[in-house]
Amino acid sequence: MVNPNTRPEAGYLQSKLAQQFMKVKMEWLRFNRSYDFDLYVYSNEQYVLFCRKHLTLTPSMAAKVQKKAIIYVDKSDAEHFQAYMEENITDIIRDTTRPIAEKSEAVYKVSTSLVDELLAAPKAACITRVKDLVANQLEFVMANPGAVNSLMSITEHDYYTYTHSVNVAIYLVGLGEMMKLTRQEIQYLSLGGMLHDLGKARISLEIINCTTKLTEAQFEEMKKHPRFGIEVLKSVDPDGQMVPRVCYDAILHHHERFNGGGYPFPSMNGKDIPLFGRMTKVCDVFDALTTKRSYKAEMSSFEALTLMRDKMIEEFDPDVFGEFLRMMANYSEDMRKRLNL
Ligand SMILES: [Fe+2]
Ligand SMILES: [Fe+2]
Repeated sequence: MVNPNTRPEAGYLQSKLAQQFMKVKMEWLRFNRSYDFDLYVYSNEQYVLFCRKHLTLTPSMAAKVQKKAIIYVDKSDAEHFQAYMEENITDIIRDTTRPIAEKSEAVYKVSTSLVDELLAAPKAACITRVKDLVANQLEFVMANPGAVNSLMSITEHDYYTYTHSVNVAIYLVGLGEMMKLTRQEIQYLSLGGMLHDLGKARISLEIINCTTKLTEAQFEEMKKHPRFGIEVLKSVDPDGQMVPRVCYDAILHHHERFNGGGYPFPSMNGKDIPLFGRMTKVCDVFDALTTKRSYKAEMSSFEALTLMRDKMIEEFDPDVFGEFLRMMANYSEDMRKRLNL
């Protein structure tokens, strides 16, 4: 039992402990098997071990914990927990007894953790896992009408590059469906979305975590990330065996502007910008506006769409932006009315 209240600096220890543990759901676990990670519950302001690693988790053990209790895993075991989730995500998705919301949370959790790992150390094995996960995510979306809406409703609004990458991939799946792309195209588009900011792995943390407006020099450095993303991919996947070349369009061209002047190719404009780039651009801006940074509050979806329509419209392909608006209108009746669609 880890008790933070036995020392005078209890408040400090409390917050340190909160950082040490990550939340998981009991529903994601299976009974009558053991795990490579300890399981804790939070009770009376303590993290209490209730199932030690390599012991069998039984229904009676779980029954002692409240049914919908949040379970915690020590972050030092995050790798083992992630491996378990990736092995079991297909079963979770295919389990017809589970509600869509529960599946969405599992898909979101496993995706964000994996992209976090990828951005920290882009390796070929990790990219293969992202590719497998995108295939699973797509199976979930195709088999469950309403899955995209469910995923959109749980997107995290605190900005981290990994949550942003997963959010953009989710919006792209919905947008791809709206635009009647084929399943294969949506799969590549979603993979491109997951990887679109991969190049930020090569930008210094000082710039990535900067809480004030970037200096001109810092912004020039930041503008390299689309090209860096391609370089990273080519270094780990020189033959394009893992990530098809069409995915590169989402990575290289997501900061181009329809009216020109974007980067990395300011002279590129209109439909000369590859479709995946034009689509990723819209989803990228929307997610950036609707997430919170230390230096700015998040906008509501309505505020973001209004700003994009009234102040930024020339940056977007009007056809793509129109479909994005229709997707958001489908997501919420209230939004449809407020946008006059
Ligand atoms: Fe970007
Ligand atoms: Fe982005």
